[in-house]
Amino acid sequence: MSIVFYCNWPNKKEWIKGLRKKFAKEKIQVWPNIKNRDEINYAIVWKMPHKELKKFKNLKIIFSLGAGVDHLINKKDLPKIPIVRIKDPVMRERMYNYVLCHILNYQLKIFDYLENKKNKRWKERFDILDNNDLNVGILGLGYLGGYIAKLLKKNNYKISGFSRTNKTNKYNFSTYRGSNGLNNFLKKLDIVINLLPNTTATQNFVDAKVLKKMKKNCLLINVGRGSTINEKDLIKHMKKNKNFEAVLDVFKVEPLPKKHGFWNTKNIFITPHSSSITNVDSAIQQIYLNYNVYKKQKKIRNRVNYLQQY
Ligand code: GLV
Repeated sequence: MSIVFYCNWPNKKEWIKGLRKKFAKEKIQVWPNIKNRDEINYAIVWKMPHKELKKFKNLKIIFSLGAGVDHLINKKDLPKIPIVRIKDPVMRERMYNYVLCHILNYQLKIFDYLENKKNKRWKERFDILDNNDLNVGILGLGYLGGYIAKLLKKNNYKISGFSRTNKTNKYNFSTYRGSNGLNNFLKKLDIVINLLPNTTATQNFVDAKVLKKMKKNCLLINVGRGSTINEKDLIKHMKKNKNFEAVLDVFKVEPLPKKHGFWNTKNIFITPHSSSITNVDSAIQQIYLNYNVYKKQKKIRNRVNYLQQY
């Protein structure tokens, strides 16, 4: 029995060291140094090339190194074995911090002061927006979205949520479903936080029609997946609506190609898929726990639903 590990992140060595320490009794084989392919029963991977992953004929479970599993789910060339995702409180706190930072930037217009400094301009502001002036909507109320909504609500923002699939009656804020629901949800929002996962049903969900339903000076924050936004529609929309703003952390193609129109679109703030990087220690801790629960009780924690695709 052994475990294969693959990721191409810059902190790969830290992962290998941490995994070897935690899984001290198990054999970790780090791709491409595979000694015995057939003895591998578990994979701990992020974006492993499928042609390599499918060579392990005795795999029982795949552990994704992140919250997202779109690198694994429903791929024709991969076996349909259980996939386990990370649900980490540290990751959702990171995501919350990122979102809050951009809400505050929008609210306090912090970037304007950078411009003012360049021009040695002392310009006081009196048009401050307070938390309860802002309608913030969360698109996608899963593990991350539900948490972000809860904390923002505690901080006095006016919160509402939209869920395509979840039951929405468990929240202490307004929630919406369906296409009528989406219209009512979007039309009052100052800030839309998109946390939709990448599934067949969410492709280009935020397109010209949906963008048109948002306020003209809305801030759209995308920390879900790039595939959920029609990127061409967004560029067109922002050219027409000069007060619309977007903060984008995820893209259809990553790294974002140099020629991509987003780079030159005014009012788009770009970060390189960094809103919620997996925390090595807490993730290893969780994978280890899930692994042991499976070994001892044959129960699979945080198992991904192949139908829902997350
Ligand atoms: C990051 O995008 C993740 O899915 O964890």
